[in-house]
Amino acid sequence: MRRRILIALVAAAGLVTAGCSGGNDRSTQDDGGASSSDTVEVYSWWTSPSEELGLDALQEVFAQEYPEIQFVNGGVAGGGGSTKQLLQARLEAGEPPDSFQVHAGREAQDYIDAGHVTDISDLYNEFGLDGVFPPGLLDMLTQDRHLYTIPSNVHRANVLWASVPALEDAGIDPGAIAYPTVDAFIADLEKIADQAEVTPLAVGGTWTQVHLLETILIAELGADGYDGLFDGTTDWSGPQVGAALEEFQTLIGLTNEDREEYDWEFPTQMVVDGDAAFTIMGDWVPALLESNSLVEGVDYVWAPSPGTDGIYDFLADSFSMTVGAPNPAGAKAWLAVIASADGQAAFNQVKGSIPARTDVDLSQFSSYQQAAAQSFASDAIVGSIQHGAAATIAQGEAVNRAVYAFVTSGADDLAKFQADLTAAFAE
Ligand code: GAL
Repeated sequence: MRRRILIALVAAAGLVTAGCSGGNDRSTQDDGGASSSDTVEVYSWWTSPSEELGLDALQEVFAQEYPEIQFVNGGVAGGGGSTKQLLQARLEAGEPPDSFQVHAGREAQDYIDAGHVTDISDLYNEFGLDGVFPPGLLDMLTQDRHLYTIPSNVHRANVLWASVPALEDAGIDPGAIAYPTVDAFIADLEKIADQAEVTPLAVGGTWTQVHLLETILIAELGADGYDGLFDGTTDWSGPQVGAALEEFQTLIGLTNEDREEYDWEFPTQMVVDGDAAFTIMGDWVPALLESNSLVEGVDYVWAPSPGTDGIYDFLADSFSMTVGAPNPAGAKAWLAVIASADGQAAFNQVKGSIPARTDVDLSQFSSYQQAAAQSFASDAIVGSIQHGAAATIAQGEAVNRAVYAFVTSGADDLAKFQADLTAAFAE
């Protein structure tokens, strides 16, 4: 099924669901108190088995802290937030969940501008959050000195994941996948295509291709040049972007042909099963690798995506209290758990990300996470397009349409592709 159709179906189904399960049949607390009939509905897209593990961990902490409030999972499938049109429809219909997942950065700013998220600056004081989050991250959640959401985690998008058996079969050293350039990566992918039975590079549907594309733009433009794509100082129609798009075109030619049908788990599972050598995806991947009992260094290896060593392609999830939340007290309780050191430790340990709080002890975290935390502290930080840090929702959707049109029409019209991307950021 084509992704667009899938989205339309999910959106249509969701509208029906929203109509049935909106807040009207639930007890609404205007006084901020909680009662045993209270529920809190939280929207996220953490619905796949490996992503649910993180949400489950949060729910456990929530149930311990607030046994009187029932957690209602308002999750909607769609990795990378790719079906958040459904959330939008609910917000516009005045049927909001109590709290929703939102990316720090331009995406959060969109929801603030649209008046869908409540000013929760007071909760930062009440929860004692002064000084516990990186100031740069808080800036991405702030408007006119007011804070609107609380960050739960920090993910890295530019990570290359590889199957050790698949690499060994193709005669590629698993210890040498820190490719300095995209061209060097392509050379190995072509070697795999020539010699091995496996797919060189696994991808899924459009949003995962956008994810891949942004890592190639970072490699080609460097951190400053990439940043310039969002403030007008780098020309989307210029030769460097053109070169990145050519590399992207070559990469798409080295991926699985059934890519359009899948979210991110399937291509990752191809790496798990040794049916693909590589995938480029964010660091929610380890949760899936570990749930398949894969061991880092033995079954899989990782490196910064080709040409991006020293750069951290950043994204962060955060949670809101919606304007018109049916149960603001429930939303407040949920946010207290999101903000807490215990909640962040329990959640991030299984999610693969690092805590947004800087005061969580990482000694129990994986070696990957400890390395990610070090990179986050020392690398140049750039914002993800697909995951709402650098691009507005409208820009992200326009990039998705451009990538979909390019890839599904045979990936041969580079000039149109570049013009579409240029138009996406023209305003
Ligand atoms: C990102 C989100 C991550 C993870 C990923 C895959 O947008 O920030 O937490 O859920 O999508 O679905």
